[in-house]
Amino acid sequence: MRTPDYPSQHAEQWAQVDHYFADALAAEDVALKAALAHNAAQGLPVHDVSALQGKMLALMVTLTGAKRVLEIGTLGGYSTIWMARALPEQGQIISLEFNPHHAEVARHNLALARVQDRAEVLVGAALDTLPMLAAPFDLIFIDADKVNNPHYLQWALKLARIGTVIIADNVVRGGAVVDADSHDANVRGLREFVQMISDDARLDATALQTVGEKGWDGLIMAVVKSL
Ligand code: SAH
Ligand code: DHB
Ligand code: MG
Repeated sequence: MRTPDYPSQHAEQWAQVDHYFADALAAEDVALKAALAHNAAQGLPVHDVSALQGKMLALMVTLTGAKRVLEIGTLGGYSTIWMARALPEQGQIISLEFNPHHAEVARHNLALARVQDRAEVLVGAALDTLPMLAAPFDLIFIDADKVNNPHYLQWALKLARIGTVIIADNVVRGGAVVDADSHDANVRGLREFVQMISDDARLDATALQTVGEKGWDGLIMAVVKSL
């Protein structure tokens, strides 16, 4: 069993149910398994989305008809592979990664999965590489340093069109998100991010709590209604 990010007495059951559905609905092929193995061999942290979450991201690409996807936070490219595979011919995913070693591992994994022609990793702090990107993106997945989520939201809006879907990972953090007095910079960044979405008339959003092999966490999904 993967070590959950947030401990719980139910962790083992949550992981079992995740595996049951993943086996039935989101089986990993050789390339996805190899990516996780290569990540581990290269010492990357185990912060990839789960297989079921990867499949959900892929389905989001499919059902939004996205042709251009932006990901902030690549790690080893596991989520990138899931989304890249759901793109149409001529589709493109650009993924932003601060850590050069993570980016190198990701490029290797993307090549193994044969999506290197549609998946590009840009190395650098996202706040330095975001200004280099051309709008619009159809789907934007925010999954990097949570402290910068407020800035990533502003960039996502700059790089959006009407109808763009914005998804952010890890917005529950074992329930920590409700602590208004938290000293955790990630939680503070997340709460500011949530407040910004709440206050922004251009966005329509919801949050989903999730349990599974990563423990108790969740995601926010927003759609851009106007610019
Ligand atoms: N989306 C990946 C997991 C990303 S983990 C998956 O599900 O497979 C978060 C990643 O964000 C890490 O690799 C980390 O190095 C990267 N990161 C952290 N701060 C960043 C920043 N300022 N700019 C870009 N990437 C950053
Ligand atoms: C962390 C980051 C993630 O993107 C994730 O899905 C889980 C944990 C982290 O930095 O702890
Ligand atoms: Mg994440």
